Amino acid sequence: MVSREEFLEVYDKLKSQLLEDSDVFAYTEDSRKWVEKMLDHNVPGGKLNRGISVVDSLKHLKSGVELTKEDKFLACVLGWCIEWLQAYFLVLDDIMDNSITRRGQPCWYRVPKVGSIAINDGIVLRNHIFRLLRLHFRSKAYYLELNDLFNEVEYQTTCGQMLDLITTPAGEVDLSKYVIPTYLKIVQYKTAYYSFYLPVACALLMVGKSLDDYKPTKEILVLMGTYFQVQDDVLDCYGDPQFIGKIGTDIEDSKCSWLIVQALKRANKEQKQCLLDNYGKSDHECVAKVKAIYKELALQTVFLEYEKEVYDKLITEIESQEDHAVQTVLKAFLAKIYKRQK
Ligand code: IPE
Ligand code: MN
Ligand code: MN
Repeated sequence: MVSREEFLEVYDKLKSQLLEDSDVFAYTEDSRKWVEKMLDHNVPGGKLNRGISVVDSLKHLKSGVELTKEDKFLACVLGWCIEWLQAYFLVLDDIMDNSITRRGQPCWYRVPKVGSIAINDGIVLRNHIFRLLRLHFRSKAYYLELNDLFNEVEYQTTCGQMLDLITTPAGEVDLSKYVIPTYLKIVQYKTAYYSFYLPVACALLMVGKSLDDYKPTKEILVLMGTYFQVQDDVLDCYGDPQFIGKIGTDIEDSKCSWLIVQALKRANKEQKQCLLDNYGKSDHECVAKVKAIYKELALQTVFLEYEKEVYDKLITEIESQEDHAVQTVLKAFLAKIYKRQK
């Protein structure tokens, strides 16, 4: 396994490497400083679950045998590529979602002197991924598949973000769109592929597997990712901003969140009208009225029931996997997120 500290050491190494990488572009003093600050602000400050899962998964796939130094390092590089991908999406997501804080600090676009430069910084982060892959994996047999994988997952995530955004056009709340199939499609694409499938797929490629043989594993990871996003939606409303490091904006942004979907399914006529009148407004009182309906409908209890159900389903599906190492990979990933509070 890899400790957070060990994993972070690889971040420092990769950052230096990118800033020294002058084959295609040589940094000036100012641009090097800018990018270093941008990276430090956006890449390493999260939970690092996705990145560290590549290393953990690789170890399980090698039957728990201690990894060689090289394997461990390469798995860390792939882990960081996922963290870079996440940083890229979050920098842009916070602009689009009008968010204030992320990981206990201001969102990058809200940092003085950054503003809309954050859009290009997001694109820089994206390009770093393919620089890193080239620097470390160009001679590997699985280099092409690795590139395809990152491209495919990035495309899926972008499509998920599009679905999320077009379901909630500014100023017009159409609650009839907020139904479970739409919700599931959004979260599968915007969250599950890059957060759950990608780390495991990276580890599978490293041990020489063909991803085509792991379709059922992918389905389980997508279900796990869906559960993770449901948790994210619940934390957006009920999490302590101090603890989760971000201030929820889903009600104000009229997001197709798990909570509103569940509320609409259960609301009577009056409650529905109240949701219609108050959802998607940044006014504090409107937000409070929406939350009051959530309370009347006991959505926190509904969530606990969902959580139990999805957990049991995941365990059953995981145990039906033929490959024992894959079972261990999936169980370890599930343990990291089950009942998470942040
Ligand atoms: C973010 O989804 C998904 C991606 C960054 C691809 P959300 O907008 O729901 O996530 P938070 O709550 O801002 O982290
Ligand atoms: Mn978003
Ligand atoms: Mn967001």
